Amino acid sequence: MKSAIILAAGKSARMNSNTVKLLHTLIDKPIIKYVTDSATAAGAEEIVVVVGHQSEKVKELLGDNFTYEYQLEQLGTAHAVSCAKSLKDKRGQTLILMGDCPLIKPETLINLYESNKNFDLTVLTTHLKNPGTYGRIIRNRQNRIEKIAEYFECNEQEKNITEINTGIYCIKNEVLFKFLPYIGNNNVKGEYLFTNIVEILSKNNHKVQAIVSSDNSEFLGVNDRVQLAEVLKELQLSINKKHCLNGVTIVNPYSVYIGSEVVLGKDITIYPNNYILKNSIIKDNSTILPNCWLENAIIGENCVIDNAKITDSEILNGASVGPFARIRKNAIVGENANIGNFVELKNTQTGKNFKSAHLSYLGDSEIGNNVNFGCGAITVNYDGKTKHTTKIADNSFVGCNVNLIAPIALGKSTLIAAGSTITDDVPDGDMAIARSYQTNKEGYGTRFFERNKKNAPSATQAKKNEA
Ligand code: UD1
Ligand code: CA
Repeated sequence: MKSAIILAAGKSARMNSNTVKLLHTLIDKPIIKYVTDSATAAGAEEIVVVVGHQSEKVKELLGDNFTYEYQLEQLGTAHAVSCAKSLKDKRGQTLILMGDCPLIKPETLINLYESNKNFDLTVLTTHLKNPGTYGRIIRNRQNRIEKIAEYFECNEQEKNITEINTGIYCIKNEVLFKFLPYIGNNNVKGEYLFTNIVEILSKNNHKVQAIVSSDNSEFLGVNDRVQLAEVLKELQLSINKKHCLNGVTIVNPYSVYIGSEVVLGKDITIYPNNYILKNSIIKDNSTILPNCWLENAIIGENCVIDNAKITDSEILNGASVGPFARIRKNAIVGENANIGNFVELKNTQTGKNFKSAHLSYLGDSEIGNNVNFGCGAITVNYDGKTKHTTKIADNSFVGCNVNLIAPIALGKSTLIAAGSTITDDVPDGDMAIARSYQTNKEGYGTRFFERNKKNAPSATQAKKNEA
């Protein structure tokens, strides 16, 4: 059986945060979720997450697919591993993963399971130019791993070693639980260090190997917010690179953030300062101009999105949105529709060729094909208690500054005169006008301005008034 233990109980003191580091977000997903997703994708059948600090929040985030074990006092990584009691009597291979190393790839973990088939323990290592405070790999004359020395245990010579412990291991489960009790806490920190397992197994003639990975960026850990920013940059660039190779033009990959689950088609151009997050999909030949926030947004083919916030909504083929538009909560913008500047759509579905070019609000509406919604027109969907629906059938024309007081239905080919406040349904083919009639007062304008001129103070009087 393939299992994994993910250590996620630590306090994250170096983050200086009220939130444990594993819940901090990288692009669009909390750190710990990257690790559980990788372990799942690598085929781990049982994943035990060892929780402690803010355990309820971690559990709530990760959900029911995992086994949770509590480490009530954080006495070190070996102590944390020993808390995974549900695996105690099981056989097979177990991965040990650090919850704070989010860049680990499923392929790497699949290889690790494979590499450990004829060993008792495999330690994944890498070389770092600046090995910082990572644990150092100590090898013997035959170049075999002998032990791992934590930074605080290293002498000056050992500190110069560039091969570091990634904190990722694969171990035979029965060996793990047999030897865990032999790890003591007799060190300066008084912690039970899982790294000691290497020395203990070697001394007991168990087969231990260290395999070196050349891709060292995959093992960056997040201990403080400087590392959080470094890991974010690595993640951002590796995701963007993948899309660029698949046929997406990203004008400046340093200023575009794309979530790991996002799906992008071909010949898409993404301009700077864009966030494309969660389950967003962008189809072929679309252009994302600067300053967009797309979250769970589906963008069809040949769309142009400019300076817009689109959440949980869909834009169909050939439509354009923005600049300065907000589309949210299950809105659908129909084929070839045009949503212009300062337009908001909430829970509104439009047909094809819909046009709302400027300054409008459409909430809880169902709109047909070829409808024009004039500048400043709005749906009045809320009466202070309940939201109401507006329906506008095909080929209708809503003039500027119209209020549609919902619930309301406009039939097909209706015409609503500008400035109307519409409270009653309008049948197919009718025009509705609801505004007071205009009166022109002959010559009143000229008289008004002349009177003002006469009464105006002289220049000297005006200065005195000012003083
Ligand atoms: C650890 C390794 C170090 C390795 C580095 C790689 C040990 C002793 N050291 O150091 O060799 O180079 O990872 O990133 O293993 N945790 C618990 N309970 C505890 C202590 C820690 O759950 O009692 C969890 C933390 O939440 C964290 C992970 O274990 O997710 C690693 O702990 P951390 O303190 O960050 O270890 P490092 O000092 O980075
Ligand atoms: Ca760490």
